[in-house]
Amino acid sequence: MARRWAERCKARNHGYRHRARYLRRGYRRGSRDWRDALPISEQNLMRRALRWLRNALLGLAAIIVIAALVIYVRSEQIVRRTYAEPLAPIAIPTDSASIAEGMRVARIRGCTGCHGSKLEGQMFVDDPMLARLASPDLTIAAREYSDAELVRIIRRGVRPDGRSVVGMPSDMFSQLDDRDVGMIIAYLRSVPPSAGQRRGLRLGPIGRVGVAAGKFLPAAAEARRADALSSSYPRGGDSTARGAYLARTVCTECHALDLGGGDGTPDLRIAAGYSLERFVLLMRTGKALGDREVGLMSKVARGRFSHFTDGEIQALHAYLKARAAAPQPTPAPK
Ligand code: HEC
Ligand code: HEC
Repeated sequence: MARRWAERCKARNHGYRHRARYLRRGYRRGSRDWRDALPISEQNLMRRALRWLRNALLGLAAIIVIAALVIYVRSEQIVRRTYAEPLAPIAIPTDSASIAEGMRVARIRGCTGCHGSKLEGQMFVDDPMLARLASPDLTIAAREYSDAELVRIIRRGVRPDGRSVVGMPSDMFSQLDDRDVGMIIAYLRSVPPSAGQRRGLRLGPIGRVGVAAGKFLPAAAEARRADALSSSYPRGGDSTARGAYLARTVCTECHALDLGGGDGTPDLRIAAGYSLERFVLLMRTGKALGDREVGLMSKVARGRFSHFTDGEIQALHAYLKARAAAPQPTPAPK
């Protein structure tokens, strides 16, 4: 028994001695591992550093996976959320004058800009990183949805299944009056059916981050946000009420809910610098003061605002001048 112990200790000591010799020598001769060519202390340091790096990378990978999962789940929750908005039926006219007027109103509000001139639909956003989102064929929607369901989609951004549409300026459309919405729907129902773009939304990674961070709100959430800010919406007095309504349901899409501008658009007090004649020219041809082309503004003027009547342009101009002269309310939070 004692001998066995002694032998074992010897063997062990021999092992230590062997290793000690090897350590003294500094490195193993003939080793192919480059790290073995380093002095022992540096070898250890290097191993420790590599181990640390590996752990750090594993930790980072874990954080990325968890963050991606959280963003995915959160964005799905937001997109799939349902909104309890009551159906509010309104009268839908059927006469041809109302249908023609509905087409004009729809053009000015940009329905045909996003959904196509024959309402056939188109790809609205097509960027694999951001999203793939269709502005669907509205002739299909007009056959599938009831009048009250169409009203709710337009004004509240809510589909029959309670989920929200994405990408429609429902915050602005929530301000449309019954007459205009009724005529728009009369027009939608009058357009011959086409089998155009089907509805569909697929979020890309950047789109998901934007949705999860609350940067892109579903239309129904935007409409509710607009309710909360409605005191900042343009209001006119008796003589400028028509112009205020037009500004609220057309210009707020880009010039912000309170017409205070932002995101590359100016505060519409700028319109006070326009004579009526120059304002008419801007609305009809897109030419700003000094005969300037002003990007998107010139485009929407030619495509949409050229359908305003003379009376509407006058009303808008009168309202915007009155607004610029009035003391400014504190700007609404954007
Ligand atoms: C800025 C672009 C834009 C404008 C302006 C716009 N829409 Fe849309 N609309 C969309 C997009 C995008 C969708 C699809 C949203 C989705 O699938 O979540 C949509 C969806 C719809 C739907 C639901 C269609 C379906 O098949 O479920 C209806 C109805 C609709 N829009 C009507 C209108 C009307 C009426 C107007 C004008 C008053 C209008 N839209 C203006 C972009 C727009
Ligand atoms: C689709 C977006 C969009 C809509 C809707 C829109 N605007 Fe603009 N508007 C712009 C942009 C963008 C600019 C800044 C253009 C630039 O300076 O390049 C602008 C600039 C202007 C200017 C200043 C032009 C100048 O002298 O530089 C006026 C005035 C104006 N808009 C009036 C209106 C009125 C009135 C409405 C509603 C009938 C309206 N806009 C609706 C995007 C829009």
